[in-house]
Amino acid sequence: MADTAPRDGTTLEHELEAMLEIERFDPPAEFRRQALLSDPAVYEEAARDPQGWWARQAANLDWFEPWDAVLDDSDPPFYKWFTGGRLNASHNCVDRHVEAGIGDRVAYHWHGEEGERRDVTYADLHRDVQRFANALKELGVQAGDVVGIYLPMIPEVVVAMLACARIGAPHNVVFGGFSAESVKERMEFSEAKVLVTVDGARRKGRTAPIKATVDETMGDLASLQTIVVVRHAGLPDVPMTAGRDVFYDEVCAAADPVCPAESLDAEHPLFILYTSGSTASPKGILHTTGGYMTGVSATHRYVFDLKPESDVYWCAADVGWITGHSYIVYGPLANGTTSVMWEGAPDYPHRGIWWEVAERTRATILYAAPTAIRTFMKWGHELPARYDLSALRLLGSVGEPINPKAWLWYQQVIGGGRCPIVDTWWQTETGAIMITPLPGITSAKPGSATKPFPGVFADVVSESDGESVETGQGLLVLTQPWPSMLRTLYKEDERFVETYFARFGKETYLVGDAARRDRDGYLWIIGRIDDVVNVSGHRLSTAEVESAIVAHEKVAEAAVIGQSDEDTGQAIAAFVTLNGEIEGSDELVAEIGAVVAERIGKFARPKRIIWADDLPKTRSGKIMRRLLRDIAEGRALGDVTTLRDPGVMAALESQVNEAQAQEQ
Ligand code: WT7
Repeated sequence: MADTAPRDGTTLEHELEAMLEIERFDPPAEFRRQALLSDPAVYEEAARDPQGWWARQAANLDWFEPWDAVLDDSDPPFYKWFTGGRLNASHNCVDRHVEAGIGDRVAYHWHGEEGERRDVTYADLHRDVQRFANALKELGVQAGDVVGIYLPMIPEVVVAMLACARIGAPHNVVFGGFSAESVKERMEFSEAKVLVTVDGARRKGRTAPIKATVDETMGDLASLQTIVVVRHAGLPDVPMTAGRDVFYDEVCAAADPVCPAESLDAEHPLFILYTSGSTASPKGILHTTGGYMTGVSATHRYVFDLKPESDVYWCAADVGWITGHSYIVYGPLANGTTSVMWEGAPDYPHRGIWWEVAERTRATILYAAPTAIRTFMKWGHELPARYDLSALRLLGSVGEPINPKAWLWYQQVIGGGRCPIVDTWWQTETGAIMITPLPGITSAKPGSATKPFPGVFADVVSESDGESVETGQGLLVLTQPWPSMLRTLYKEDERFVETYFARFGKETYLVGDAARRDRDGYLWIIGRIDDVVNVSGHRLSTAEVESAIVAHEKVAEAAVIGQSDEDTGQAIAAFVTLNGEIEGSDELVAEIGAVVAERIGKFARPKRIIWADDLPKTRSGKIMRRLLRDIAEGRALGDVTTLRDPGVMAALESQVNEAQAQEQ
C-alpha cells in the first residue's frame, strides 16, 4: 500500500495550512545519503571555474573529436561552445549505450490511451533510428535541411527526432495541440523539406484525422517535398498524394538497416523550436549540438539525481515543447535512462490514470507542471491514495510558478512526505534547467526555484538602471553564457540581439521574467514582463491571439491579457470591439473561439470574452493592457491620466461588472 496514509479531506486541509508556516524543507536525510551530489562545495567549484565545470560535464558525452576551446566569446552574444569538437546527438543517445552492452535496457515504457503497452529498448531505438535516418536520406534530406515533425506522444516521435540528429538535419517539432494552420506557418518559416506526421491522433477516446487536416493547409508550400505518415490510429482511407506522401513503415522497411552517425561540428544545428514572444510572429529558437547535449545531460543527471540502473523516470510533458525535447528525449537518453511515456490526457480513461501508470511502472521520479498538480488537487487526495506510489523518491515541477499550497500537496500526497521537490525554472531559450534546487543539497522553500544550477549565473536587476538588486524585486537576467543557450533566432540574428541583448548589453541575457531575491539569496519567479501569457505552462503571445481574433470578420479590434486563474495559472481574457452596430452574443463567442482554435490551437481559446465599445489607449494609440488586467482582476485602477479618453475606462468597468453578474 502507499505510505500516503489515508486521511480525510479536512485533516489534510488543516495539515497543509499548518505547513504553509514552514519556511524551509531540508533534503530528507535518507535522500541525501544516497544523492549523487550532497556537498555544497560543488557550487563554489563551478563558480571558480565555470568553463572547467562545463568541460567536465561535456566529457561525459562521447566525442568523435575533442574540442579546441570550451568557449569562444569573441563575438557576443553569438557564443560558441566546444569549438572544433565533433559529436553526434543520436550516437550519444543510442549507439554508445548499445556499444556499452545495455541495449536491452528499456528506454521507454510507452503507455497508450486504450491500455496498450510497448517497451522500447535502446537496441530497438538503434535499429529504428538507423532505418528512418536512411529513409530520410533516400527522400533527399541532407545535413542542414529542416525536417518538420508533427506527431503525438508515440515512440516514433523520438525515432524521428534522433534520425534527423543522426544525419545532421535540424528538426522542427510542432506540438500536437497546435492547429494545422500553425504547422504550415512553422514549416514555411523554416523552409522544411519533409514533414513527418500521423494518420490520426487519439485524444480521450476520439481520433482526430491529422493527415487529412494537414492536407488542407499544406498544399501550397513550395519547400515541402514529402510528407511521411506514421500509421498509428489505424484510420482507414488516409488521403495520400501520389509523388509527395509516403508511409513511415514502408519507407523504413525499404531502407538500408545500417546508417552510421554523422560526425558533426559541436555547433551544428540540432533543432529549431518555435516559441511565442512579444509579437505575433513566433520565434525560431535555434539549439546546436555540443553545448545543448552537455547542458541537458548534466542537468538531467544532477537535478533528478539520476541512477540509470534503477530509476524509472517520468516526465509528463509533451515532446512538442522544450520540456519534452530536453527531458523526455535528449537528456534522459544521453544518460541511459528508463523513462515512462504516456500518450494521453490526465483524465482518460479515468482520473487516476497517472497514478495507475506510476504504480504499474514503479516510477521513481515524476516531473510535471503545476497546472496538473492543481488539477489533481481539485480531484481530491483519495484518488492517488488508492495506488501504490511508494517507489517515488523525487518530484519535479516546471513551466510556471508553483503556489506553496500545491507544492505542499504534491510533497505530502504524491510524495508521501519523503520526496524532495525540484522546482525548475528555465525556458525554451535556455535549453536546459537554469534555476533549481539540487535535491541532495538545497533546502527548498515552497514556491521558490531557489538557486542557479552550478555554472549558471543569474541576477535580479533594477528595471530603471540595471543595477543588481540585493534583496527585492527586479528583472531576472543571466550574466554569463551557458552551453545550452540558444544560438540565435532562426534566420533572424537581429531580432535575437534585439530581444535578449539590447536592454543591458551583449553580455547580459534578458530573461523576460520578473523575479524577487529574498534575504537568503533565494530566487522567486514572479512572471513575464512582456506580452507573453502562460496558460497551463503553454506559452502564448497576446499579439498572436489578438491577430487570430481580429481575423473574424465581425471583430474590429481586440486586446488580450493573461488573467490569473486558479487552475491554469493564467487564462486568456479578450476584450473585443465589434464592427459597427453588431452586438455580442454567445454565438459570436463560440465563433471567435473557433477562429482561434483554427489559427493557433484549441488551447489558445479565450476563457473569457468581454465586449468593449472602446479600448483604453494612450495618445499615441497604444493599448494599455495594464489597465485591462486591473479591470479583469477587479483591482483598483492604476494611473489613467495618460489615456487619450479616460471616459473609456468607466464604460469598460460597467461592461465588465455586467458580464461578471451574468457569469454568476
Ligand atoms: C517561461 C518559459 C521551462 C520549460 C517549459 C516552459 C515560465 C518556467 C518556471 C518555474 C516559474 C516558470 C517563465 C519562463 N517558467 N518554469 N519553475 N517557475 N515560472 O518553457 O515555454 O519557454 O516558457 O515559463 O515565465 O520565462 P517556455
